[in-house]
Amino acid sequence: MSTPVFTLERIAFRYPGAENLFQDLSLEIAAGDSICLLGANGSGKSTLLKMFCGLVFPSAGRILAFGQEITEARLEDSGFARQYHRRVGFIFQNSEAQLFNTRVWDEVAYGPNQLGLSSAEVKTRVDDILTMLNLQSLADRSPYRLSGGEKKKVAVAAALVLNPEVLILDEPTNGLDPKTQRWLIELLLQLNSMGRTIITATHNLDLAHAISRRAIILSEDHQLVYDGPSDQALEDKSLLTAVNLIEEYTHRHGEQDHKHRYTHG
Ligand SMILES: Nc1ncnc2c1ncn2[C@@H]1O[C@H](COP(=O)(O)OP(=O)(O)OP(=O)(O)O)[C@@H](O)[C@H]1O
Ligand SMILES: [Mg+2]
Repeated sequence: MSTPVFTLERIAFRYPGAENLFQDLSLEIAAGDSICLLGANGSGKSTLLKMFCGLVFPSAGRILAFGQEITEARLEDSGFARQYHRRVGFIFQNSEAQLFNTRVWDEVAYGPNQLGLSSAEVKTRVDDILTMLNLQSLADRSPYRLSGGEKKKVAVAAALVLNPEVLILDEPTNGLDPKTQRWLIELLLQLNSMGRTIITATHNLDLAHAISRRAIILSEDHQLVYDGPSDQALEDKSLLTAVNLIEEYTHRHGEQDHKHRYTHG
């Protein structure tokens, strides 16, 4: 079997001054998998993704990426960090936090420039990715003055330009119109079929269904309560209700108990 992309070995994690968020959490992610990470607000999805991205570190246990332990000290080595971020691309929940250049073109070129590629190679890569994502018309615009969906697309371009093996996305369809959501879903399916590992945190069960084979579910008290086929999880109404991913209430029609996910229209 090939080396897992990520392995969490009995990790604990807490934010400074807070109580443990995770405790004794173990998890393995195989190369080429497509995973949705599900859970209610505050369940710990973004925190777990940040751990995969090397932005926060376990307070106990170990995290391995591509078979090698990831520690704060290792990622402080800028050469190591550059290589790591070339292999693991991520798209934040808030793309605004991710954009810091004054031109879209420069934003997308930032990662390749950091890798020390020649300017001709950087230009080819950036132009190719902007064309692939149909963003050429935005190349000279300021990322700050784009719409939310356009910003998200630029963040996607900035991640994909490095051709990462693993793509980590935090609530990627938030604020996207239906066509743009469809565009993103098609793109993620295509990347996964090319062997890329895709890990997506979301509340959007339709998105989870469309793009993932495996679901990992965190409860509101941050426990891993499900790890298995997403089809099965998404059909399990009592599980989804228990973890606050769907809301169900019971009332009576005549003599019969009657359950709805949502209220009557
Ligand atoms: N920087 C931080 N410092 C302290 N506590 C934090 C920090 N970031 C998140 N938390 C807390 O950790 C918990 C998990 O937060 P996290 O952002 O991982 O949840 P989430 O599942 O991504 O939620 P959402 O669905 O709202 O995005 C929450 O209780 C949150 O308040
Ligand atoms: Mg989050």
